[in-house]
Amino acid sequence: MANFTPEFMEELRARLSIEEVIGRRVNLIRRGREYVGLSPFQKEKTPSFTVVPDKGFYHCFSSGEHGDIIDFVMKTEGLPFPEAVERLAAEAGLEVPVDSPEERERARRRHSLLEVMEAACAFFERTLRMPEGKTGLDYLTGRGLSPETIQRFRLGFAPDSRGALKAALGRDGISEDLMRAAGLVKRPEDGRPDFDYFRGRVMFPITDRRGRVIAFGGRILGDGQPKYLNSPETPLFAKGRILYGLAQALPAARQDGTIVVTEGYMDVIALHQAGFENAVAPLGTAVTEEQITALWRVVREPIICFDMDSAGQRAMSRVIDRALPILRSGYGLRFAGLVPGEDPDSQIRRYGREFVANAFKRSRPILDVLWELETGGRTHLGAEQRAALTRRFEESARKIKDPVLRSHFMRGFKDRLWQQSAGRNRAGKGPAPAAAVQRQTSRQASERFDAEYRVQQILIALIANHSWLFEEVGEALGRMSFTDRALDGLRQALVSVLGAEPELGPEALREALGARGQGEQLERVLADPLVACHRRAAPTASRDEARATWDENHNLMLRSALGLEIERDRQKLAGDVSQQNWSRTQMLIRAAVGEDPS
Ligand code: UTP
Ligand code: MN
Repeated sequence: MANFTPEFMEELRARLSIEEVIGRRVNLIRRGREYVGLSPFQKEKTPSFTVVPDKGFYHCFSSGEHGDIIDFVMKTEGLPFPEAVERLAAEAGLEVPVDSPEERERARRRHSLLEVMEAACAFFERTLRMPEGKTGLDYLTGRGLSPETIQRFRLGFAPDSRGALKAALGRDGISEDLMRAAGLVKRPEDGRPDFDYFRGRVMFPITDRRGRVIAFGGRILGDGQPKYLNSPETPLFAKGRILYGLAQALPAARQDGTIVVTEGYMDVIALHQAGFENAVAPLGTAVTEEQITALWRVVREPIICFDMDSAGQRAMSRVIDRALPILRSGYGLRFAGLVPGEDPDSQIRRYGREFVANAFKRSRPILDVLWELETGGRTHLGAEQRAALTRRFEESARKIKDPVLRSHFMRGFKDRLWQQSAGRNRAGKGPAPAAAVQRQTSRQASERFDAEYRVQQILIALIANHSWLFEEVGEALGRMSFTDRALDGLRQALVSVLGAEPELGPEALREALGARGQGEQLERVLADPLVACHRRAAPTASRDEARATWDENHNLMLRSALGLEIERDRQKLAGDVSQQNWSRTQMLIRAAVGEDPS
Protein backbone atom coordinates (compact mmCIF):
# COMPACT_ATOMS: atom_id res chain seq x y z
CA MET A 1 0.00 0.00 0.00
CA ALA A 2 1.16 3.45 -0.83
CA ASN A 3 2.18 5.66 2.01
CA PHE A 4 2.05 9.38 1.31
CA THR A 5 4.22 10.76 4.07
CA PRO A 6 4.36 14.53 4.58
CA GLU A 7 7.99 14.49 3.40
CA PHE A 8 6.99 12.73 0.22
CA MET A 9 4.16 15.15 -0.47
CA GLU A 10 6.44 18.06 0.11
CA GLU A 11 9.06 16.67 -2.23
CA LEU A 12 6.41 16.07 -4.86
CA ARG A 13 5.14 19.63 -4.71
CA ALA A 14 8.68 20.96 -4.72
CA ARG A 15 9.70 18.96 -7.78
CA LEU A 16 6.84 19.89 -10.05
CA SER A 17 6.09 23.35 -11.23
CA ILE A 18 2.38 24.00 -11.13
CA GLU A 19 2.42 26.20 -14.21
CA GLU A 20 4.02 23.39 -16.20
CA VAL A 21 1.54 20.74 -15.12
CA ILE A 22 -1.44 22.98 -15.66
CA GLY A 23 0.12 24.48 -18.79
CA ARG A 24 -0.18 21.14 -20.53
CA ARG A 25 -3.93 21.36 -20.37
CA VAL A 26 -4.58 25.09 -20.29
CA ASN A 27 -2.93 27.64 -22.52
CA LEU A 28 -1.35 29.91 -19.95
CA ILE A 29 -0.11 33.42 -20.50
CA ARG A 30 2.28 34.97 -18.08
CA ARG A 31 1.11 38.10 -16.35
CA GLY A 32 3.65 39.35 -13.83
CA ARG A 33 4.09 36.63 -11.26
CA GLU A 34 0.91 34.86 -12.24
CA TYR A 35 -0.43 33.03 -15.24
CA VAL A 36 -3.87 33.37 -16.73
CA GLY A 37 -5.81 31.26 -19.17
CA LEU A 38 -9.27 30.11 -20.14
CA SER A 39 -10.99 28.14 -17.42
CA PRO A 40 -10.75 24.37 -17.90
CA PHE A 41 -13.86 24.03 -15.78
CA GLN A 42 -16.25 26.28 -17.64
CA LYS A 43 -16.60 27.68 -21.13
CA GLU A 44 -15.51 31.29 -21.19
CA LYS A 45 -14.30 33.90 -23.64
CA THR A 46 -12.19 36.08 -21.37
CA PRO A 47 -9.60 34.29 -19.26
CA SER A 48 -10.45 34.17 -15.58
CA PHE A 49 -8.39 31.17 -14.62
CA THR A 50 -5.31 32.15 -12.64
CA VAL A 51 -2.25 30.18 -11.54
CA VAL A 52 -0.04 31.55 -8.77
CA PRO A 53 3.24 29.59 -8.79
CA ASP A 54 4.63 31.32 -5.69
CA LYS A 55 1.75 30.01 -3.68
CA GLY A 56 1.39 26.75 -5.56
CA PHE A 57 -2.30 27.11 -6.30
CA TYR A 58 -4.78 27.96 -9.03
CA HIS A 59 -8.00 29.87 -8.81
CA CYS A 60 -10.83 29.98 -11.29
CA PHE A 61 -12.85 33.14 -10.92
CA SER A 62 -15.70 32.00 -13.13
CA SER A 63 -16.36 28.67 -11.42
CA GLY A 64 -14.88 29.38 -7.99
CA GLU A 65 -12.70 26.27 -8.30
CA HIS A 66 -9.52 26.52 -6.24
CA GLY A 67 -6.73 24.17 -5.32
CA ASP A 68 -3.19 22.90 -5.71
CA ILE A 69 -1.48 20.74 -8.28
CA ILE A 70 -3.06 17.55 -6.96
CA ASP A 71 -6.55 19.02 -6.86
CA PHE A 72 -6.06 20.06 -10.44
CA VAL A 73 -5.25 16.57 -11.65
CA MET A 74 -8.08 15.08 -9.59
CA LYS A 75 -10.62 17.53 -10.99
CA THR A 76 -9.54 17.66 -14.61
CA GLU A 77 -8.86 13.96 -15.00
CA GLY A 78 -11.45 12.67 -12.60
CA LEU A 79 -8.92 10.69 -10.61
CA PRO A 80 -9.16 9.81 -6.93
CA PHE A 81 -6.49 11.30 -4.68
CA PRO A 82 -4.06 8.35 -4.55
CA GLU A 83 -4.06 7.93 -8.31
CA ALA A 84 -3.58 11.63 -8.93
CA VAL A 85 -0.59 11.56 -6.60
CA GLU A 86 0.82 8.48 -8.29
CA ARG A 87 0.49 10.04 -11.72
CA LEU A 88 2.25 13.20 -10.60
CA ALA A 89 4.93 11.18 -8.80
CA ALA A 90 5.68 9.30 -12.01
CA GLU A 91 5.98 12.62 -13.81
CA ALA A 92 8.35 13.94 -11.17
CA GLY A 93 10.43 10.77 -11.23
CA LEU A 94 9.61 10.05 -7.63
CA GLU A 95 8.95 6.66 -6.23
CA VAL A 96 5.88 6.47 -4.04
CA PRO A 97 6.96 5.17 -0.64
CA VAL A 98 5.34 1.89 0.23
CA ASP A 99 3.87 1.39 3.62
CA SER A 100 6.15 -1.52 4.48
CA PRO A 101 7.67 -2.21 7.88
CA GLU A 102 11.10 -1.30 6.45
CA GLU A 103 9.84 2.00 5.10
CA ARG A 104 8.15 2.78 8.39
CA GLU A 105 11.40 2.00 10.17
CA ARG A 106 13.32 4.33 7.82
CA ALA A 107 10.86 7.14 8.43
CA ARG A 108 11.06 6.63 12.16
CA ARG A 109 14.82 6.73 11.97
CA ARG A 110 14.86 9.92 9.92
CA HIS A 111 12.57 11.41 12.47
CA SER A 112 14.87 10.43 15.33
CA LEU A 113 17.88 11.75 13.44
CA LEU A 114 16.16 15.11 13.10
CA GLU A 115 15.56 15.13 16.83
CA VAL A 116 19.20 14.37 17.51
CA MET A 117 20.34 17.17 15.20
CA GLU A 118 17.97 19.58 16.87
CA ALA A 119 19.28 18.60 20.31
CA ALA A 120 22.87 19.06 19.12
CA CYS A 121 22.07 22.45 17.63
CA ALA A 122 20.52 23.60 20.89
CA PHE A 123 23.58 22.33 22.77
CA PHE A 124 25.98 24.28 20.50
CA GLU A 125 23.85 27.40 20.84
CA ARG A 126 23.84 27.12 24.63
CA THR A 127 27.58 26.54 24.71
CA LEU A 128 28.25 29.70 22.71
CA ARG A 129 26.78 31.69 25.59
CA MET A 130 28.75 29.90 28.28
CA PRO A 131 32.34 30.52 29.39
CA GLU A 132 33.62 27.64 27.17
CA GLY A 133 32.04 29.36 24.22
CA LYS A 134 33.48 32.80 24.80
CA THR A 135 36.24 32.47 22.21
CA GLY A 136 33.61 31.48 19.67
CA LEU A 137 31.29 34.33 20.53
CA ASP A 138 34.19 36.79 20.45
CA TYR A 139 35.15 35.47 17.06
CA LEU A 140 31.66 35.97 15.62
CA THR A 141 31.25 39.38 17.19
CA GLY A 142 34.69 40.31 15.92
CA ARG A 143 33.50 39.48 12.41
CA GLY A 144 30.73 42.00 12.85
CA LEU A 145 27.79 39.69 13.47
CA SER A 146 25.02 41.06 15.64
CA PRO A 147 23.32 39.02 18.38
CA GLU A 148 20.19 38.91 16.22
CA THR A 149 22.10 37.46 13.28
CA ILE A 150 23.76 34.88 15.50
CA GLN A 151 20.39 33.87 16.79
CA ARG A 152 18.71 33.86 13.40
CA PHE A 153 21.29 31.49 11.95
CA ARG A 154 21.45 29.60 15.22
CA LEU A 155 25.23 29.81 15.34
CA GLY A 156 26.87 27.93 18.14
CA PHE A 157 30.08 26.57 19.54
CA ALA A 158 31.44 23.04 19.91
CA PRO A 159 33.69 22.92 22.96
CA ASP A 160 37.22 21.67 22.50
CA SER A 161 36.54 18.34 24.15
CA ARG A 162 36.29 14.75 23.01
CA GLY A 163 33.08 14.02 24.83
CA ALA A 164 31.09 17.15 25.75
CA LEU A 165 28.40 16.74 23.09
CA LYS A 166 28.27 12.99 23.54
CA ALA A 167 27.66 13.42 27.27
CA ALA A 168 25.02 16.10 26.79
CA LEU A 169 23.10 14.09 24.21
CA GLY A 170 23.45 11.00 26.39
CA ARG A 171 21.73 12.89 29.20
CA ASP A 172 18.85 13.51 26.77
CA GLY A 173 18.55 9.74 26.39
CA ILE A 174 20.01 9.60 22.89
CA SER A 175 21.90 6.44 22.02
CA GLU A 176 25.47 6.53 20.74
CA ASP A 177 24.37 4.54 17.76
CA LEU A 178 22.03 7.34 16.76
CA MET A 179 24.69 10.00 17.41
CA ARG A 180 27.00 8.12 15.08
CA ALA A 181 24.34 7.79 12.43
CA ALA A 182 23.80 11.54 12.68
CA GLY A 183 27.52 12.13 12.12
CA LEU A 184 27.97 13.82 15.47
CA VAL A 185 30.38 11.34 17.00
CA LYS A 186 32.99 9.20 15.36
CA ARG A 187 34.41 5.79 16.25
CA PRO A 188 38.21 5.77 16.22
CA GLU A 189 40.06 2.97 14.41
CA ASP A 190 41.78 1.83 17.57
CA GLY A 191 38.63 0.65 19.28
CA ARG A 192 38.52 3.39 21.87
CA PRO A 193 35.09 4.93 22.59
CA ASP A 194 33.31 7.26 20.16
CA PHE A 195 34.38 10.90 20.34
CA ASP A 196 32.83 14.21 19.29
CA TYR A 197 33.23 14.95 15.60
CA PHE A 198 33.25 18.74 16.01
CA ARG A 199 35.69 20.14 18.55
CA GLY A 200 36.68 23.73 19.25
CA ARG A 201 34.72 25.07 16.29
CA VAL A 202 32.12 27.74 15.64
CA MET A 203 29.06 25.87 14.48
CA PHE A 204 26.87 26.74 11.49
CA PRO A 205 23.74 24.59 11.41
CA ILE A 206 22.64 23.56 7.92
CA THR A 207 18.90 23.17 7.54
CA ASP A 208 16.45 21.87 4.98
CA ARG A 209 14.08 24.29 3.31
CA ARG A 210 11.74 24.08 6.25
CA GLY A 211 14.45 25.09 8.68
CA ARG A 212 15.03 21.69 10.28
CA VAL A 213 18.68 21.08 11.16
CA ILE A 214 20.14 18.29 9.04
CA ALA A 215 23.89 18.91 9.25
CA PHE A 216 26.58 21.27 10.52
CA GLY A 217 29.54 23.16 9.22
CA GLY A 218 32.14 23.93 11.88
CA ARG A 219 34.69 26.69 11.42
CA ILE A 220 38.04 26.51 13.09
CA LEU A 221 39.06 29.54 15.13
CA GLY A 222 42.02 31.14 13.46
CA ASP A 223 44.14 29.16 11.03
CA GLY A 224 44.18 25.41 10.69
CA GLN A 225 42.84 22.66 8.50
CA PRO A 226 40.23 22.11 7.48
CA LYS A 227 38.88 25.64 7.79
CA TYR A 228 35.37 24.24 7.72
CA LEU A 229 34.58 20.74 8.79
CA ASN A 230 31.21 19.60 7.47
CA SER A 231 28.96 16.80 8.65
CA PRO A 232 29.38 13.56 6.73
CA GLU A 233 26.58 12.53 4.40
CA THR A 234 23.76 10.94 6.39
CA PRO A 235 20.23 9.80 5.57
CA LEU A 236 19.27 13.42 6.25
CA PHE A 237 22.07 15.21 4.48
CA ALA A 238 23.14 15.06 0.85
CA LYS A 239 25.48 17.96 0.17
CA GLY A 240 24.60 18.43 -3.47
CA ARG A 241 20.92 18.86 -2.78
CA ILE A 242 21.10 21.46 -0.06
CA LEU A 243 21.58 25.19 -0.23
CA TYR A 244 22.84 26.86 2.90
CA GLY A 245 20.48 29.57 4.15
CA LEU A 246 17.54 28.60 1.95
CA ALA A 247 15.06 28.41 4.83
CA GLN A 248 15.98 31.93 5.94
CA ALA A 249 16.11 33.24 2.36
CA LEU A 250 12.81 31.92 1.03
CA PRO A 251 10.43 34.63 2.24
CA ALA A 252 12.58 37.50 0.95
CA ALA A 253 13.45 35.68 -2.26
CA ARG A 254 9.80 35.07 -3.04
CA GLN A 255 8.89 38.61 -2.19
CA ASP A 256 11.60 40.29 -4.30
CA GLY A 257 11.65 37.66 -6.99
CA THR A 258 15.42 37.31 -6.71
CA ILE A 259 17.77 34.96 -4.96
CA VAL A 260 21.53 35.37 -4.73
CA VAL A 261 23.94 32.45 -4.68
CA THR A 262 27.23 33.20 -2.98
CA GLU A 263 30.18 30.99 -2.15
CA GLY A 264 30.04 30.39 1.55
CA TYR A 265 28.44 30.46 4.95
CA MET A 266 29.87 33.82 5.94
CA ASP A 267 28.81 35.47 2.68
CA VAL A 268 25.24 34.36 3.22
CA ILE A 269 25.18 35.59 6.78
CA ALA A 270 26.88 38.92 6.07
CA LEU A 271 24.56 39.62 3.13
CA HIS A 272 21.61 38.74 5.28
CA GLN A 273 22.69 41.05 8.03
CA ALA A 274 23.19 43.85 5.52
CA GLY A 275 19.58 43.46 4.45
CA PHE A 276 20.03 41.05 1.52
CA GLU A 277 17.94 38.37 3.08
CA ASN A 278 17.76 36.38 -0.12
CA ALA A 279 21.29 34.93 -0.07
CA VAL A 280 22.13 31.23 -0.16
CA ALA A 281 25.28 29.17 -0.84
CA PRO A 282 26.23 25.66 -1.91
CA LEU A 283 28.26 23.75 0.63
CA GLY A 284 31.78 24.21 -0.62
CA THR A 285 31.14 22.12 -3.72
CA ALA A 286 30.28 23.12 -7.26
CA VAL A 287 26.64 24.06 -7.78
CA THR A 288 24.73 20.95 -8.89
CA GLU A 289 21.82 20.51 -11.31
CA GLU A 290 19.64 19.75 -8.35
CA GLN A 291 20.58 23.01 -6.68
CA ILE A 292 19.92 24.97 -9.87
CA THR A 293 16.53 23.33 -10.20
CA ALA A 294 15.78 24.09 -6.57
CA LEU A 295 16.67 27.73 -7.20
CA TRP A 296 14.40 27.85 -10.25
CA ARG A 297 11.57 26.70 -8.08
CA VAL A 298 11.95 29.92 -6.15
CA VAL A 299 12.75 32.45 -8.88
CA ARG A 300 13.25 32.41 -12.64
CA GLU A 301 16.66 33.97 -12.73
CA PRO A 302 18.81 33.34 -9.68
CA ILE A 303 21.88 35.59 -9.42
CA ILE A 304 25.20 33.84 -9.06
CA CYS A 305 27.67 36.00 -7.18
CA PHE A 306 31.05 34.34 -6.80
CA ASP A 307 34.44 35.78 -6.01
CA MET A 308 36.06 37.31 -9.04
CA ASP A 309 39.27 35.33 -8.70
CA SER A 310 40.28 32.50 -10.98
CA ALA A 311 38.63 29.92 -8.73
CA GLY A 312 35.44 31.94 -8.86
CA GLN A 313 35.66 32.09 -12.65
CA ARG A 314 36.11 28.36 -12.90
CA ALA A 315 33.12 27.95 -10.61
CA MET A 316 31.06 30.24 -12.85
CA SER A 317 31.90 28.29 -15.95
CA ARG A 318 31.04 25.06 -14.15
CA VAL A 319 27.66 26.47 -13.15
CA ILE A 320 27.03 27.38 -16.77
CA ASP A 321 28.03 23.88 -17.88
CA ARG A 322 25.57 22.37 -15.50
CA ALA A 323 22.79 24.80 -16.31
CA LEU A 324 22.86 24.56 -20.12
CA PRO A 325 21.46 21.01 -20.39
CA ILE A 326 18.59 21.78 -18.06
CA LEU A 327 17.83 25.26 -19.35
CA ARG A 328 14.11 25.81 -19.80
CA SER A 329 12.30 28.59 -21.50
CA GLY A 330 11.69 31.44 -19.10
CA TYR A 331 14.43 30.34 -16.72
CA GLY A 332 18.05 31.39 -16.65
CA LEU A 333 20.95 32.50 -14.54
CA ARG A 334 22.48 35.88 -14.01
CA PHE A 335 25.97 36.65 -12.80
CA ALA A 336 27.02 39.49 -10.61
CA GLY A 337 30.56 40.52 -9.93
CA LEU A 338 31.99 42.31 -6.97
CA VAL A 339 35.46 43.73 -6.68
CA PRO A 340 38.06 41.09 -7.52
CA GLY A 341 39.84 39.58 -4.57
CA GLU A 342 37.16 40.30 -2.06
CA ASP A 343 34.13 38.29 -1.07
CA PRO A 344 30.72 39.84 -0.41
CA ASP A 345 31.31 39.70 3.31
CA SER A 346 34.24 42.12 3.27
CA GLN A 347 32.80 44.28 0.48
CA ILE A 348 29.63 45.12 2.30
CA ARG A 349 31.69 46.39 5.14
CA ARG A 350 34.02 48.37 2.90
CA TYR A 351 31.73 49.81 0.28
CA GLY A 352 28.31 49.55 1.83
CA ARG A 353 24.93 48.22 0.91
CA GLU A 354 24.26 50.42 -2.09
CA PHE A 355 27.35 49.25 -3.84
CA VAL A 356 26.43 45.61 -3.50
CA ALA A 357 22.83 46.28 -4.48
CA ASN A 358 24.17 47.91 -7.63
CA ALA A 359 26.28 44.93 -8.50
CA PHE A 360 23.21 42.69 -8.26
CA LYS A 361 21.20 45.08 -10.36
CA ARG A 362 23.76 45.02 -13.11
CA SER A 363 24.10 41.25 -13.19
CA ARG A 364 24.62 39.68 -16.62
CA PRO A 365 23.05 36.72 -18.38
CA ILE A 366 24.83 33.48 -19.29
CA LEU A 367 25.72 34.47 -22.84
CA ASP A 368 27.56 37.63 -21.78
CA VAL A 369 29.56 35.82 -19.15
CA LEU A 370 30.38 32.90 -21.40
CA TRP A 371 31.54 35.29 -24.08
CA GLU A 372 33.76 37.05 -21.62
CA LEU A 373 35.17 33.86 -20.18
CA GLU A 374 35.86 32.41 -23.64
CA THR A 375 37.45 35.50 -25.13
CA GLY A 376 39.30 36.35 -21.92
CA GLY A 377 38.15 39.90 -22.53
CA ARG A 378 39.93 40.16 -25.88
CA THR A 379 38.20 42.66 -28.11
CA HIS A 380 40.36 41.96 -31.09
CA LEU A 381 39.84 38.56 -32.61
CA GLY A 382 41.65 37.10 -35.59
CA ALA A 383 39.97 34.76 -38.06
CA GLU A 384 41.32 31.71 -36.33
CA GLN A 385 40.21 32.87 -32.90
CA ARG A 386 36.78 33.60 -34.27
CA ALA A 387 36.53 30.12 -35.72
CA ALA A 388 37.66 28.57 -32.44
CA LEU A 389 35.21 30.71 -30.53
CA THR A 390 32.40 29.66 -32.83
CA ARG A 391 33.28 26.01 -32.30
CA ARG A 392 33.26 26.44 -28.54
CA PHE A 393 29.93 28.20 -28.56
CA GLU A 394 28.49 25.53 -30.82
CA GLU A 395 29.69 22.98 -28.32
CA SER A 396 27.95 24.86 -25.51
CA ALA A 397 24.82 25.25 -27.62
CA ARG A 398 24.69 21.51 -28.24
CA LYS A 399 24.33 21.03 -24.49
CA ILE A 400 21.07 22.97 -24.53
CA LYS A 401 18.25 20.49 -24.99
CA ASP A 402 15.47 22.94 -25.78
CA PRO A 403 15.76 23.65 -29.53
CA VAL A 404 14.26 27.11 -29.35
CA LEU A 405 16.64 28.16 -26.61
CA ARG A 406 19.51 26.57 -28.49
CA SER A 407 18.96 28.62 -31.61
CA HIS A 408 18.35 31.71 -29.55
CA PHE A 409 21.67 31.15 -27.85
CA MET A 410 23.55 30.78 -31.15
CA ARG A 411 21.85 33.83 -32.56
CA GLY A 412 22.93 35.82 -29.52
CA PHE A 413 26.46 34.59 -29.99
CA LYS A 414 26.53 35.45 -33.70
CA ASP A 415 25.21 38.91 -32.98
CA ARG A 416 28.09 39.47 -30.66
CA LEU A 417 30.60 38.10 -33.06
CA TRP A 418 29.24 40.39 -35.72
CA GLN A 419 29.25 43.35 -33.40
CA GLN A 420 32.80 42.62 -32.44
CA SER A 421 33.99 42.68 -36.04
CA ALA A 422 31.49 45.18 -37.44
CA GLY A 423 34.13 47.81 -37.99
CA ARG A 424 36.14 45.64 -40.32
CA ASN A 425 33.72 43.39 -42.12
CA ARG A 426 31.17 45.88 -43.26
CA ALA A 427 33.71 47.74 -45.34
CA GLY A 428 33.55 47.58 -49.09
CA LYS A 429 30.06 46.20 -49.32
CA GLY A 430 28.65 49.40 -50.69
CA PRO A 431 25.74 51.34 -49.31
CA ALA A 432 22.85 49.40 -47.89
CA PRO A 433 19.39 50.22 -49.23
CA ALA A 434 18.07 53.39 -47.65
CA ALA A 435 15.19 51.84 -45.71
CA ALA A 436 17.39 49.18 -44.22
CA VAL A 437 19.89 51.76 -43.11
CA GLN A 438 17.25 53.70 -41.35
CA ARG A 439 15.89 50.62 -39.65
CA GLN A 440 19.28 49.60 -38.45
CA THR A 441 20.65 52.89 -37.33
CA SER A 442 19.11 53.20 -33.92
CA ARG A 443 19.89 49.63 -33.01
CA GLN A 444 23.46 49.95 -34.11
CA ALA A 445 23.82 53.20 -32.27
CA SER A 446 22.84 51.65 -28.97
CA GLU A 447 24.99 48.57 -29.57
CA ARG A 448 27.93 50.74 -30.36
CA PHE A 449 27.30 52.73 -27.26
CA ASP A 450 27.49 49.58 -25.21
CA ALA A 451 30.65 48.39 -26.88
CA GLU A 452 32.19 51.81 -26.56
CA TYR A 453 31.23 52.10 -22.94
CA ARG A 454 32.87 48.79 -22.31
CA VAL A 455 36.05 49.78 -24.04
CA GLN A 456 36.17 52.92 -21.94
CA GLN A 457 35.62 50.99 -18.76
CA ILE A 458 38.44 48.65 -19.65
CA LEU A 459 40.83 51.51 -20.33
CA ILE A 460 40.03 52.92 -16.91
CA ALA A 461 40.39 49.57 -15.15
CA LEU A 462 43.65 48.98 -16.91
CA ILE A 463 45.16 52.21 -15.65
CA ALA A 464 43.76 51.70 -12.16
CA ASN A 465 45.24 48.20 -11.99
CA HIS A 466 48.47 49.05 -13.82
CA SER A 467 49.26 52.64 -12.96
CA TRP A 468 52.80 52.21 -14.39
CA LEU A 469 51.16 52.25 -17.82
CA PHE A 470 50.29 55.90 -17.35
CA GLU A 471 53.80 56.92 -18.16
CA GLU A 472 53.45 55.38 -21.60
CA VAL A 473 49.86 56.22 -22.40
CA GLY A 474 48.98 59.14 -20.15
CA GLU A 475 49.08 61.60 -22.98
CA ALA A 476 46.66 59.62 -25.10
CA LEU A 477 44.36 59.18 -22.12
CA GLY A 478 44.44 62.92 -21.54
CA ARG A 479 43.41 63.64 -25.13
CA MET A 480 40.44 61.28 -25.13
CA SER A 481 36.94 62.17 -24.25
CA PHE A 482 34.55 59.50 -23.08
CA THR A 483 30.95 59.54 -24.19
CA ASP A 484 29.69 58.65 -20.73
CA ARG A 485 29.91 61.67 -18.51
CA ALA A 486 30.55 59.83 -15.24
CA LEU A 487 33.28 57.76 -16.86
CA ASP A 488 34.80 60.84 -18.35
CA GLY A 489 34.91 62.44 -14.90
CA LEU A 490 36.81 59.43 -13.67
CA ARG A 491 39.16 59.60 -16.67
CA GLN A 492 39.95 63.23 -15.92
CA ALA A 493 40.54 62.48 -12.24
CA LEU A 494 42.90 59.65 -13.19
CA VAL A 495 44.82 61.92 -15.52
CA SER A 496 45.24 64.66 -12.97
CA VAL A 497 46.13 62.36 -10.06
CA LEU A 498 48.65 60.32 -12.03
CA GLY A 499 49.85 63.36 -13.92
CA ALA A 500 50.95 64.83 -10.60
CA GLU A 501 52.24 61.59 -9.12
CA PRO A 502 52.93 58.94 -11.74
CA GLU A 503 54.48 56.51 -9.24
CA LEU A 504 51.27 55.98 -7.29
CA GLY A 505 50.53 52.32 -6.52
CA PRO A 506 47.02 50.89 -6.93
CA GLU A 507 46.06 51.31 -3.28
CA ALA A 508 47.24 54.90 -3.02
CA LEU A 509 45.61 55.62 -6.36
CA ARG A 510 42.28 54.37 -5.08
CA GLU A 511 42.64 56.58 -2.07
CA ALA A 512 43.52 59.64 -4.10
CA LEU A 513 40.53 59.05 -6.36
CA GLY A 514 38.37 58.54 -3.32
CA ALA A 515 39.48 61.93 -2.03
CA ARG A 516 38.26 63.41 -5.32
CA GLY A 517 34.87 61.80 -4.90
CA GLN A 518 35.62 59.26 -7.65
CA GLY A 519 36.10 56.24 -5.39
CA GLU A 520 32.70 54.78 -5.87
CA GLN A 521 32.73 55.33 -9.60
CA LEU A 522 36.02 53.47 -9.82
CA GLU A 523 34.76 50.56 -7.75
CA ARG A 524 31.72 50.41 -9.96
CA VAL A 525 33.90 50.07 -13.03
CA LEU A 526 36.11 47.43 -11.45
CA ALA A 527 33.11 45.50 -10.21
CA ASP A 528 31.36 45.31 -13.54
CA PRO A 529 31.39 41.61 -14.34
CA LEU A 530 32.60 42.20 -17.86
CA VAL A 531 35.53 44.16 -16.55
CA ALA A 532 36.19 41.94 -13.57
CA CYS A 533 36.33 38.87 -15.83
CA HIS A 534 38.79 40.55 -18.16
CA ARG A 535 41.91 38.57 -17.42
CA ARG A 536 44.19 40.80 -19.45
CA ALA A 537 43.13 43.98 -17.67
CA ALA A 538 43.25 42.43 -14.20
CA PRO A 539 45.91 43.29 -11.64
CA THR A 540 47.36 39.84 -12.29
CA ALA A 541 47.93 40.48 -16.00
CA SER A 542 51.54 40.71 -17.11
CA ARG A 543 52.95 43.99 -18.36
CA ASP A 544 52.90 42.76 -21.94
CA GLU A 545 49.31 41.71 -21.61
CA ALA A 546 48.37 45.03 -20.08
CA ARG A 547 50.10 46.90 -22.91
CA ALA A 548 48.41 44.76 -25.54
CA THR A 549 45.04 45.28 -23.90
CA TRP A 550 45.60 49.00 -23.94
CA ASP A 551 46.51 48.97 -27.63
CA GLU A 552 43.50 46.91 -28.61
CA ASN A 553 41.04 49.04 -26.74
CA HIS A 554 42.67 52.30 -27.65
CA ASN A 555 42.43 51.34 -31.33
CA LEU A 556 38.80 50.48 -30.87
CA MET A 557 38.21 53.90 -29.37
CA LEU A 558 39.79 55.62 -32.34
CA ARG A 559 37.87 53.45 -34.72
CA SER A 560 34.58 54.02 -33.00
CA ALA A 561 35.07 57.78 -33.18
CA LEU A 562 35.38 57.34 -36.92
CA GLY A 563 32.48 54.92 -36.84
CA LEU A 564 30.20 57.61 -35.54
CA GLU A 565 31.06 59.81 -38.45
CA ILE A 566 30.44 56.99 -40.89
CA GLU A 567 27.03 56.40 -39.38
CA ARG A 568 26.10 60.04 -39.71
CA ASP A 569 27.20 59.93 -43.31
CA ARG A 570 25.25 56.79 -44.04
CA GLN A 571 22.16 58.46 -42.72
CA LYS A 572 22.72 61.41 -44.96
CA LEU A 573 23.30 59.02 -47.78
CA ALA A 574 20.00 57.34 -47.15
CA GLY A 575 18.30 60.59 -48.04
CA ASP A 576 20.67 61.89 -50.67
CA VAL A 577 22.70 59.47 -52.70
CA SER A 578 24.96 61.94 -54.31
CA GLN A 579 28.25 60.83 -55.74
CA GLN A 580 30.05 63.18 -53.41
CA ASN A 581 28.51 61.77 -50.24
CA TRP A 582 29.11 58.26 -51.40
CA SER A 583 32.82 58.66 -51.95
CA ARG A 584 33.27 60.47 -48.69
CA THR A 585 31.70 57.57 -46.83
CA GLN A 586 33.87 55.11 -48.67
CA MET A 587 36.87 57.10 -47.64
CA LEU A 588 35.84 57.10 -44.01
CA ILE A 589 35.23 53.37 -44.08
CA ARG A 590 38.65 52.73 -45.51
CA ALA A 591 40.16 54.91 -42.81
CA ALA A 592 38.24 53.03 -40.18
CA VAL A 593 39.61 49.69 -41.29
CA GLY A 594 43.09 51.05 -41.37
CA GLU A 595 43.50 51.30 -45.14
CA ASP A 596 44.99 54.27 -46.79
CA PRO A 597 42.01 56.60 -47.13
CA SER A 598 43.05 58.17 -50.43
P1 UTP B 1 35.53 30.24 2.04
O1 UTP B 1 36.90 29.83 2.41
O2 UTP B 1 35.36 31.38 1.11
O3 UTP B 1 34.69 30.45 3.38
O4 UTP B 1 34.83 28.95 1.46
P2 UTP B 1 33.83 31.65 3.97
O5 UTP B 1 32.44 31.16 4.16
O6 UTP B 1 34.02 32.90 3.20
O7 UTP B 1 34.44 31.76 5.40
P3 UTP B 1 35.42 32.79 6.07
O8 UTP B 1 34.94 34.15 5.69
O9 UTP B 1 36.81 32.53 5.59
O10 UTP B 1 35.25 32.47 7.51
C1 UTP B 1 33.55 28.98 0.92
C2 UTP B 1 32.75 27.82 1.41
O11 UTP B 1 33.38 26.59 1.06
C3 UTP B 1 33.15 25.62 2.06
C4 UTP B 1 32.26 26.28 3.08
O12 UTP B 1 30.91 26.01 2.75
C5 UTP B 1 32.58 27.75 2.91
O13 UTP B 1 31.57 28.60 3.40
N1 UTP B 1 34.40 25.16 2.67
C6 UTP B 1 35.51 25.96 2.70
C7 UTP B 1 34.43 23.91 3.23
O14 UTP B 1 33.44 23.19 3.21
N2 UTP B 1 35.60 23.49 3.82
C8 UTP B 1 36.71 24.26 3.89
O15 UTP B 1 37.73 23.83 4.46
C9 UTP B 1 36.66 25.53 3.29
MN1 MN C 1 34.86 33.46 1.35
